[in-house]
Amino acid sequence: MKINSISLKNFRNYSQSKIELSPRINLFLGNNGHGKTSLLEAVWICINGKSYRTSKSKNVVNFSSKSAEIEIRTTNNDSVNEIKLIIDENKKNFLVNDKKIKNRLELKKVLATVLIDREFKENLEKSFRPRRIILDTILSNISLTFSKKLQLYSEEIKRKNEILGTSKNDEILDFIDERLLNLSYSLANERSLWLSRITNIADKVLKKLAPTNSLDFNIQSDSLNSENLKNQLESNRMKEKMTGKCLTGSHKDQISFVLNGFDAFEFGSEGEKKSVSMALKISEILLLKKVNNDFPIILVDEIGSEFDQKRFNFFYTFITSLETQCFITANNKSVLEVNKSKDFSIFSIINGDCKKIS
Ligand SMILES: Nc1ncnc2c1ncn2[C@@H]1O[C@H](COP(=O)(O)OP(=O)(O)OP(=O)(O)O)[C@@H](O)[C@H]1O
Ligand SMILES: [Mg+2]
Repeated sequence: MKINSISLKNFRNYSQSKIELSPRINLFLGNNGHGKTSLLEAVWICINGKSYRTSKSKNVVNFSSKSAEIEIRTTNNDSVNEIKLIIDENKKNFLVNDKKIKNRLELKKVLATVLIDREFKENLEKSFRPRRIILDTILSNISLTFSKKLQLYSEEIKRKNEILGTSKNDEILDFIDERLLNLSYSLANERSLWLSRITNIADKVLKKLAPTNSLDFNIQSDSLNSENLKNQLESNRMKEKMTGKCLTGSHKDQISFVLNGFDAFEFGSEGEKKSVSMALKISEILLLKKVNNDFPIILVDEIGSEFDQKRFNFFYTFITSLETQCFITANNKSVLEVNKSKDFSIFSIINGDCKKIS
């Protein structure tokens, strides 16, 4: 599946723009604050239903407007589809070929996307919570089963927190804990399974950079063993009632990546953390290819300055060699030097206006 064109109306700093795209590599050049990330965000929202930059959908509507529109035209074999998203202050409307749709999961399956930006590494290095959340986003992107388990678990945790914050009724809490026991055990084990797959591929990627590299992962979790989890739920009940918060379960799992024997995000150098982040993203792309039998569309938001020359060349040679559509943003043309044999369509973005320049 490829995106043929994207049209934006009153989206962020774009007032009106239609961009015809190449089925291979699209390079968007522009200085700071001209609209590069906004363009990638628009593609992402149209496919995934919500922004990765803001939880308030009205924030993407141009300051001087009441609603925004994004329209993408896609081709799959011979069929052409039009996906339209209208966002106003209170709601979002999705139209596929002019028909309203409610379930976007089907769309996600045929139009998988992988976003590679600086925030991924930043979230991995912050602390256990943002690390787990960003990794869960990746695993949900790859596995529908994981995504469903995560949703059910999160709903149950919300329910438990409501009771802990109000009646603290033991009978209701017992009932919820019994459900949580299964949900948490199942989620933690599913997470562990997918993390081992993703780390395994990332390990192979890192070995291509340096054969002596080795990557592994580690999960500290009460939920991987159901007997242990049951005991923890029981012994934490008093504390949970006092704090009004659910303290036990796989939303507390602590994930670490072990590079050459040490915790990469605790002790690693900047270069090592960048390499692990890049390898995990490449792994996400390769796993999606395996699961969907097709490469995802790849969105790369200005990560060039993050790498030394060796990693820069390795990363962009890999990305541009994949037989898929890529959207790459940058503030200079150095990406073009990496893979001269490849077909680049180059665009210039100035003040929310995107024009093809070659
Ligand atoms: N709702 C909005 N309406 C109008 N303009 C907005 C809105 N939200 C953000 N902007 C502005 O849009 C501009 C483009 O932002 P964007 O993040 O796309 O820039 P960028 O090209 O990625 O810049 P950088 O190179 O610094 O990352 C910025 O000046 C930003 O302040
Ligand atoms: Mg940007």
